[in-house]
Amino acid sequence: MRERRLLLIIGGGIAAYKCLELIRRARERGFSVRTVMTKAAQAFVTPLSVSAISNERVLTELFDVDEEREIGHIRLSREADLIVVAPATADLMAKMAGGHADDLATAVLLATDKPVLIAPAMNPRMWQHAATQRNAATLEADGIHFIGPNAGEMAERNEAGPGRMAEPHEILAAIERLWGDEIANHIGATQPLAGRHVLITAGPTHEPIDPVRYIANRSSGKQGYALAAAARALGARVTLISGPTGLPIPHGVFVSHVESAREMLATVEAALPADVGIFTAAVADWRVADASNQKIKKDAKHATPTLSLVENPDILKTVGQAKAGRRPPLVVGFAAETDNVLENAKKKRKSKGADWIVANDVSPATGIMGGDRNAVHIVSAEGVESWPDMDKGDVARQLMDRVAAWLAENTGEA
Ligand code: C5P
Repeated sequence: MRERRLLLIIGGGIAAYKCLELIRRARERGFSVRTVMTKAAQAFVTPLSVSAISNERVLTELFDVDEEREIGHIRLSREADLIVVAPATADLMAKMAGGHADDLATAVLLATDKPVLIAPAMNPRMWQHAATQRNAATLEADGIHFIGPNAGEMAERNEAGPGRMAEPHEILAAIERLWGDEIANHIGATQPLAGRHVLITAGPTHEPIDPVRYIANRSSGKQGYALAAAARALGARVTLISGPTGLPIPHGVFVSHVESAREMLATVEAALPADVGIFTAAVADWRVADASNQKIKKDAKHATPTLSLVENPDILKTVGQAKAGRRPPLVVGFAAETDNVLENAKKKRKSKGADWIVANDVSPATGIMGGDRNAVHIVSAEGVESWPDMDKGDVARQLMDRVAAWLAENTGEA
């Protein structure tokens, strides 16, 4: 097995000295450790001691001309399996949550699609402050992994509470845990979608009536986002073209936000070619014929408006019926129905040129629309397969496993 590669980002806190022990222990366990230090970190430990113990040059500058050419933030991320931030100060967490990139450490963190583990360390008041808690929640939703902080005595006298950085052995245990859970699957041969491009549409579309009003539907986008995360976990390059949802972007997935059906179609076409197209978006079937450029007035002078509707382009159909070369080898549609679920799905598969239709019953009583669970039928040329009711994440993982198997069987190596 090849070397396990950690990229350690040392933030500026008193706990930075513990990183020397973390590096030593990690190297004993067979990790290579490359280190980036923030400016503040260098006030607590010197790059010289870190480089001596890691046996690697320590990187500190975003705009060092030579370093940037030689080993920039993109390459630092690419050449790591896991990024560990320790100590993660309140300031560093705030920058991560806000997407800042004004030094090498934050630029790497913004550019990476690798798993990130952070070990917060700060004064308990800073940890408990609403701003830090808000940032921690944002980072958690972004898929960042946490270890600690622990509660206990702080460096300042008479200060106690949560804020102590986890001990090096605890951080290492968290690294090993993560390795088992996800990273081992990301390296080596177990990435069945590595080198594949997966295109997914998700969410509702908003069709404008005037600048402030629109027509929409109840789609949450959850199933499409779960599919994007599942495809990414199998190593794919994922383009998620999403209508308005407010859902957090899955780690490592490239997202294009769109509003209307026509924007969604244009963005899908620009993202092709792909190895598989999965169309989960609940695209509005109609849009307002001539949306007003000004807010429509409600007063005695103006009559109640009548909306006249025109049909939107069918994105799935456009891609499903595209000519070979442009059409992804595998095209998957979804069909949300309230009656005659299977009959309608079979018809749709043919009329839209899809290979598979994932059909589900979205009658209000099922709670599927907007909910966390789904019960689907996979309709293909081979027939119908009905899956039991399960979490949308499980539906996504099973469907992506099936996609990976299909691609392996029906197309050449990625
Ligand atoms: O015809 P219906 O809307 O039920 O078809 C559902 C399938 O077609 C879904 O996969 C949906 O994403 C796709 N679709 C589309 N563009 C439309 C309408 C539906 O891509 N305008």
